[in-house]
Amino acid sequence: MKLPGKVKLVDVGPRDGLQNEKQPVPADVKVQLVHLLQDAGLKEIEVTSFVSPKWVPQMADNAQVMAAIRRQPGVRYSVLTPNMKGFEAAVEAKPDEIVVFGAASEAFSQRNINCSIAESIERFAPVVEAARAKGIHVRGAISTTVGCPYEGDIAPERVELVARLMKEIGVQHVGVADTIGVGTPRKVQRAMEAALKHYAVDDVSGHFHDTYGQALANTLASMEMGIWQFDTSIAGLGGCPYAKGATGNVATEDVVYMLHGLGIETGIDLDKLVDAGAYISGQLGRKPNSRAATAILNKRAG
Ligand code: HMG
Ligand code: MG
Repeated sequence: MKLPGKVKLVDVGPRDGLQNEKQPVPADVKVQLVHLLQDAGLKEIEVTSFVSPKWVPQMADNAQVMAAIRRQPGVRYSVLTPNMKGFEAAVEAKPDEIVVFGAASEAFSQRNINCSIAESIERFAPVVEAARAKGIHVRGAISTTVGCPYEGDIAPERVELVARLMKEIGVQHVGVADTIGVGTPRKVQRAMEAALKHYAVDDVSGHFHDTYGQALANTLASMEMGIWQFDTSIAGLGGCPYAKGATGNVATEDVVYMLHGLGIETGIDLDKLVDAGAYISGQLGRKPNSRAATAILNKRAG
């Protein structure tokens, strides 16, 4: 098994994780979470999203959170921007990277961002152009690349199409997302292959929700293909309000434990990471949804 020598993790917990919480999470808790993540060695953090507060009230404090974070040199802070309105608000907050988010399934595109795939690309195009003109890196997220809550199985050709459309409008990197965590390693590899038809291996990442417990296996299967960048979520937080039943992203703690066991450098301090996960889980009144974090916390308790 040939694996990448280094792996970069993007912690999406403050955004993907907290967008799905029933109880509002105070802005200062979100800010503290970002601080703990960067203290643990995360070099990229997806902080928030500039979406409609009517659609996702949990992210309505986007500007407040971005203004309050203590930025650390070398850390990239990214935010989601679905359209020009979101982008214009986001620019004020000075993100290092913006994320446009589309889907390989028409039904999911409609439910999540209220437009077709073709319309989404039309909305993204001016956002991408404006971001690149300002020197802001542009990532594209492709949702439902293996399965959709409304359409079922998704063919790799659908992923390839969206990757091609994103490439054509100047999106610099694509994240292949298993939004509802139904993928298994070979299916995920086929979705990755589809994205790799239009993007270099250094410009593709994986974003795996762990609903069926396959996310670590899917991460490893992607690494076998040379993919070395992944979105993960502290304490396994996460979900999408428009993908009912989907649970959180693969826990950052679990992925770091696996990577360190494989001798792969991440720059992340697992103990500090576990502290960050324990902090946010405590704020949410539950235990971290991470096997590695649970084991480490149990060991600490002796
Ligand atoms: P829309 O209703 O079609 O937008 O929503 P519109 O352009 O028709 O505007 C309607 C109203 O929304 C107007 O206000 C706009 O000003 C306002 P009104 O005149 O009625 O008072 N509006 C906005 N307000 C704030 N920020 C904006 C914005 N845009 C319009 N950016 C829209 C379209 C995309 C905005 C909406 O569908 C939306 O906000 N969707 C967000 C969905 C979302 O955040 N989903 C979760 C993130 S994606 C995800 O989790 C998947 C991912 O993790 C990968 C994976 O796992 O698959 C990334
Ligand atoms: Mg997600």
